[in-house]
Formats: sequence, structure tokens, C-alpha cells
Amino acid sequence: MSGSYIAGKTIVVGVTGGIAAYKAVEVCRRLVDAGAHVIPVMTAGAEHFIGRTTLSALCSEPVQTSLWDEASPIPHTRLGQSADLILVVPATARLIGAYTAGLSTDLLTNILLATRAPVVICPAMHTEMWEHPAVQDNLAVLARRGVIIVEPDEGRLAGGDSGKGRLASPERIIAAIERTLGPTDLAGTRLVVTAGGTREPIDAVRVIANRSSGKQGYAIASVAASRGATVTLISTVGLPTPVGVDLVSVETAAQMQAAVSHAAQTADIVIMAAAVADFRPKTVVANKIKKGDGIPDIVLEPTPDILAALGATKRPGQILVGFAAETDDLVANAGAKLQRKNLDLIVANDVSAPGVGFQHDTNAVCLLRPEGPMVTIDLTDKHSIAGAVIDAIVEIRAGLT
Ligand code: PMT
Repeated sequence: MSGSYIAGKTIVVGVTGGIAAYKAVEVCRRLVDAGAHVIPVMTAGAEHFIGRTTLSALCSEPVQTSLWDEASPIPHTRLGQSADLILVVPATARLIGAYTAGLSTDLLTNILLATRAPVVICPAMHTEMWEHPAVQDNLAVLARRGVIIVEPDEGRLAGGDSGKGRLASPERIIAAIERTLGPTDLAGTRLVVTAGGTREPIDAVRVIANRSSGKQGYAIASVAASRGATVTLISTVGLPTPVGVDLVSVETAAQMQAAVSHAAQTADIVIMAAAVADFRPKTVVANKIKKGDGIPDIVLEPTPDILAALGATKRPGQILVGFAAETDDLVANAGAKLQRKNLDLIVANDVSAPGVGFQHDTNAVCLLRPEGPMVTIDLTDKHSIAGAVIDAIVEIRAGLT
């Protein structure tokens, strides 16, 4: 199973002067917990928001703030050259502008110019600043130069207003770092993954839905992208899109089938983690059904089985992976689905067990293949499950070559 690619790496964390600077503390803590050697660097602006002592206490070395240190001359080259990765969290519009222009105005901008390590920046600012053409043009230039940009989330901002500009969650930032440092054993592959539960309309306002949150599918998309795959995520939910992933939003099983069958034409790997409705109303009432008209008779019809259709037309070398959500006879039921749908791998989860399956941040699964031993993964976070699924796919691909 995949561990963290952060362990043992030297990561210089630049903290700049935005209100989100306090969130950098949590990111540093997670990096240290994951086994990184973390060297914090603060700009003068950052010191208005958090104290040096906080970062020094949490990180692996005391915080650095100045280019001018007699005990350690030319710190920017030492730090830039020793880093496996430079992270800027948060990255203000000022830092982004200076870095784009190649200005070396302080220790952090000097380090950014003096390094050949990958650079991950996490912008955070008010929506108006984020949307300003100067900022967007600068980010486009940085992206062209290979800088990895972890886009901000939408949500409540410092002034109490809402919009895009909120620092990405620690999970997204860590995933971007894992992606940057991790192996690229899926490089050159195209992978399609589905996530979330489909919603089948009954009338203008009501749907048949299920409890899938999409977390497992998003974790797979994130891990697959971090391992070098070109990922298309076909989703019914609005979780933040993982870094480097193309999102296609759908709602119904029919829409999901159209999106999946289109993307599957050029895909090397298709993973159906979505919970697709098995039945839908035969007719959809255009208006809202009136309560006063009595209890309606809703006649159901089966939805298309997306995965079975892919299995029936599978290209040589294409890998199809299904999930099986079971409440009893886990292995027997999942094994039957593996055979019936002509799959290379099925990930079986007993969704009646505590902490497993729908909505949880954790999962526990059995990986079944047409031949070969069954692999059991005990309760763990969904990213680790995703890593194990990708490991199994890499193994299957190795057997095909
Ligand atoms: O989204 P989360 O909250 O993180 O929860 C994760 C999960 C529980 C949804 C996920 O781990 C999972 O089990 N997904 C598959 C759920 C499901 O629909 O299982 P199934 O046994 O009914 O279907 C078997 C396979 O056929 C699945 O890969 C499913 O996507 C696919 N299918 C099912 C019906 C259909 N009409 N078309 C399909 O392609």
C-alpha cells in the first residue's frame, strides 16, 4: 500500500502576509507529522499575522526571515538548493507579482529564484484581488513555467463576505505536494473515475438519490493524478476538484453513461466508484406533483448499467474497475459482479460496517481480481484506499505488458 511521499523530504515553507497565514501552521504541522524536514520562512507581512515562535516551535528548524544573517550568509541559496520542494502558503498577490516579475525583494523571493526544486503556491486573497486580470495573468505565467498552483476554495472570507479566494484546505495542499513528490507510475495513462450518487428526477423538484458523498471517487482522482495519470472525474457532487483533474459534472445515470462512454473511448483505465441508481421513474412529471392530488404511483424502470456496457465492449489492454457496495455476502456478491461485468478488479465494501462506505472519511475494502489472491484493507482513510486501488491497477498493467 502507498505511504506518504513527503517522508524524508526537505520542504521550505514560505508564509506570506495574508490572514490565511494562521492556516499555514496546520499545513506545517501535517508536513512534520508526515516525516518532512520543514524549514519555515516568513515575510515581513506574515509577521503581522502570526508569531515566529509558533512556526519555529512546530517546524524542524527555526523560522528564517532575513537575507542578512551573519551566522548563515546567503541563506537563499542554501535553502533553495537544499529543498526538495518549496511551498508558499498562503501566497499573496504581492508575492505572486514579485515571483512572476523575477523580483528578489526579500528572503522568500530570493529562495524562489535560487531553487530548481518544484514550487507549489497556494494563493489566498479577496475575490476581487483573485479575479483581477493582473493576478490571473501572473498565475498563468507561473503555471506555464511549471509552478503548481493550488487554487483557492470558495467560502467565507476575512471581511465576512463570501467568494473565491479562501485558502485551499490542508488536505488539498498536502495532496498537491504528494502529487508533486510522488512516483509517476501512471504517467502517460488516461484514467476516468466516477464519483457521487446519481439523482433521478421524479418531477420538477423531487429526485431519487442515494447517500454517496463522492469522497471515495475524489480520493481516487486525486491519487491517480498525483501518480501521473491524466484524470477525468465524472461527478454528481460539488467537492473541490483535485489539483490537475478535469471535472465533468453530471446528475443522472443517463448523463453519467453518456459522459463515461465518451471518455472511455480513449481511456486506459475506468474506475466506477459512483453509486449509480439501479432504477429511475419511467416518466418524469414536468411540474411539481401536488400533495393534494394524493399519493402518486411512481413506475420505475431500470437505468443503464454503465459498467456492464463498458465490460461488454472492453478494448484489449483497457482496465475496468468496479466498486461493490454490499451489506451481506461481501465476497460472493462482489465476485459475481466482477464476472458478470467483465471487470479486471472489483473493490468490495461492506457498507453496513461502522466507518465503511457512504459519507465516511474512512473505508475498508476487499480487492478481488478474476485470478490471484484477494487483498483485504482494514479501516483506513479513503486516500489510502485509493492508493491501494491504484497499486493494484499498476500491478495489473505490469502483468499486461
Ligand atoms: O461516495 P462515498 O460517500 O465516498 O461512498 C463510497 C461508495 C460507498 C459509494 C463506494 O465505495 C462504492 O461502493 N461505490 C459503488 C456503489 C454501487 O453502486 O455499487 P453496486 O454494487 O450497486 O454497483 C456495482 C458497480 O456497478 C459499481 O461500480 C457501480 O458504479 C456500477 N454501476 C451500478 C449500477 C449501474 N446502473 N451502472 C453502473 O455502472
